[in-house]
Parts: sequence; structure tokens; C-alpha cells
Amino acid sequence: MKTRPSRPGFRRDRDIHPPLNFPDYTSTVLRYPRESLILLPQRLTELTGPVFGSDRLGPNDNDLTAQHAGEPIGQRIIVHGRLLDGDGKPIPHSLIEIWQANAGGRYRHDRDRWDCALDPNFDGAGRTFTDGDGRYEFVTVKPGAYPWRNHHNAWRPAHIHFSVFGQAFTQRLVTQMYFPDDPLFFQDPVFNSVPEHARELLVSRFDYVRTEPQRALAFEFDLVLRGRHATPFEHEGDDDD
Ligand SMILES: [Fe+2]
Repeated sequence: MKTRPSRPGFRRDRDIHPPLNFPDYTSTVLRYPRESLILLPQRLTELTGPVFGSDRLGPNDNDLTAQHAGEPIGQRIIVHGRLLDGDGKPIPHSLIEIWQANAGGRYRHDRDRWDCALDPNFDGAGRTFTDGDGRYEFVTVKPGAYPWRNHHNAWRPAHIHFSVFGQAFTQRLVTQMYFPDDPLFFQDPVFNSVPEHARELLVSRFDYVRTEPQRALAFEFDLVLRGRHATPFEHEGDDDD
């Protein structure tokens, strides 16, 4: 009789992370993995392969309002925070990427068919590295809500997608940041797939101290990799909803 080689398994923290199969979020039913997740060891290739270094950053990569000749339409905002481990220790020099819809809720993406204008001055993508204290900052415009076809009259709350890379391209985590008091939370299965007590970890904090007079509102959003305050991250392979 053949026996399957045992491999180290991957255990999700179900107290924080959403279940892989969440029927209210209809596409998870079709795509969630039926087998247990396997922890793939990091080998020489993964650990020594080239990574995206800070020398590749352009001057406006973290200012999404300054990537074209004109300013994008919308509420200008600063989004900042820290990348931390579960002990509150900052994680320096890590690549953080964001992508988002424009102020009307439209992505610059071939598959986005939402009947709302693209903004010629807004691509909706940015990247930066955390500094020595694990801090990051983006300047952007507040994304709009957008409809999708998950259920009748479904609308995604305003959100910004975040990606964090570790020391190799195989070490990547993806999540979404929301804004305080969004009236669309109640009907959003992506947000509500996260256990109730952990949802606040996905909501940024309005930061009046960092608001810049005559320029921009500010929101603070810390990304925490492990521990009781860990940010709920998405399963690899989730799409951009
Ligand atoms: Fe989205």
C-alpha cells in the first residue's frame, strides 16, 4: 500500500482569517481549495532569487496624484502606517504595493466594465518601501464604491488593496484597507467573511494630526503580520474584488 509523504501543513488562524469557502461571497464556493494547504519550504531558489529593490522605485511611485500631467479628480488623502510583527517590532525595507479604483469606483483594468469614467490622470497603482522604522506613506485619492454582481444590488465599500512582500517573491501577503464608518459594510461579503471581532483590523483610522491643511485628509493603517492584532490577509489566488 502506498502512503503519501507527510508534509508540513499550513494552519490558518480561523479566529482572525476568513474561511476559504464563504458562500455569501459566491465565487469562493467555486474556487476554494478542497485539499489541506501545504506549507512549501523556502529553498535556495526562492531565497536567493532577485527581488525588487528600492533602487527601482520612481520618484512618484508612492504619490498616485503626481503620476500624470494633471491632478486626478477626487478627495486627496494620505494613507500611512507601519509594517509590524506580532511583537510590535517594525519591519524595515519591505516592498508595499497598493492598487485601487478611482474616485468614481472604476479600475484601470480591461475587465472592469463598471459604467463610470476613467480618469486620465489616475492609474490607481503605487509602491513604496518601508523605512528603517517600518513606516510607509502614500498620497492618493479616496476610491469610490463600485457595484459588482455577487448578489442583488451588491456594492463594494471603498477600499485599497495592499500587497506586502517579504525577503523573496514567494513571500507575499495581500489584504484590503477600508475607511471608517462606511455605510456599505453591512452587505459586503468580502468584509464580513472576516470574523466580526477582527474586522476593525481592516479599517483605517482617520488621522487628524497627519491631515495637511489645504492639501489632504489622512488615514492610518498598520499592517501586522502575526499575533493577536494580525491583519487578516487574503488567500493566495483571490482576485481583485
Ligand atoms: Fe477592489
